[in-house]
Amino acid sequence: MTPDIDFSKKNAGYFAADLVQDGMAVGLGTGSTVFFAMERLSERISSEGLDITGIPTSFQATIRARDYGIPLSTLDDFPELDIAIDGADKIDSSLRLIKGRGAAQTLERCVADASELFIVVADESKMCDNLHGPVPVEVIPFALGLFEKRIRELGGIPTIRVGVKKDGPVITDCGNFEVDCDFGVITEPEQLQSLINNLPGVLSCGLFTEFTGRTKVVIGNENGVNIF
Ligand code: A5P
Repeated sequence: MTPDIDFSKKNAGYFAADLVQDGMAVGLGTGSTVFFAMERLSERISSEGLDITGIPTSFQATIRARDYGIPLSTLDDFPELDIAIDGADKIDSSLRLIKGRGAAQTLERCVADASELFIVVADESKMCDNLHGPVPVEVIPFALGLFEKRIRELGGIPTIRVGVKKDGPVITDCGNFEVDCDFGVITEPEQLQSLINNLPGVLSCGLFTEFTGRTKVVIGNENGVNIF
């Protein structure tokens, strides 16, 4: 990561963390940009006595939030959240997203759904005119072969994600496979999301089109942020 990108992510994360108010239940997304939001929340907990409860979307978020001293709970105890702060891999001008680079989109979708306000934090490189590139999909192992067949029938090319410091497939936090499905440029993201999410054995795909009405996108740059 270049220092410029790091600074952009920090500006986005810090801006989002400053929107959090005392007493809020806060969804904590996954990825490097959310780390900056957690860093700022941690500062505010120490300096202002900010009283919040975080609901993490992955093991990664859980471990980092604990390191930062952010009190945590679960979606069972907090099925209604005031705000969720999460990253994204692609963002189009209608605020539709592709998520799942970190294979966390299933829990991220649950937390986004529970939240009154969905804050997406990212740097400028994530913005695009049309969503494109692989759509991550979490699939139960039993259904893998059938899923790959169905994805090909829909015009996609499925690739099972493999580990970097682990041989074989990536196993998600929920114990499933992550399959990256390339559809090229996605002209109808809502339709594709619904087709993929309805396939048997699918937990959740990385297309996020249903939250645009309550989404605020915070794009960080070297000097500050732009809000969409
Ligand atoms: C995790 O599965 C993704 O949905 C992340 O939210 C996304 O990859 C953002 O990561 P960065 O902030 O590191 O780009």
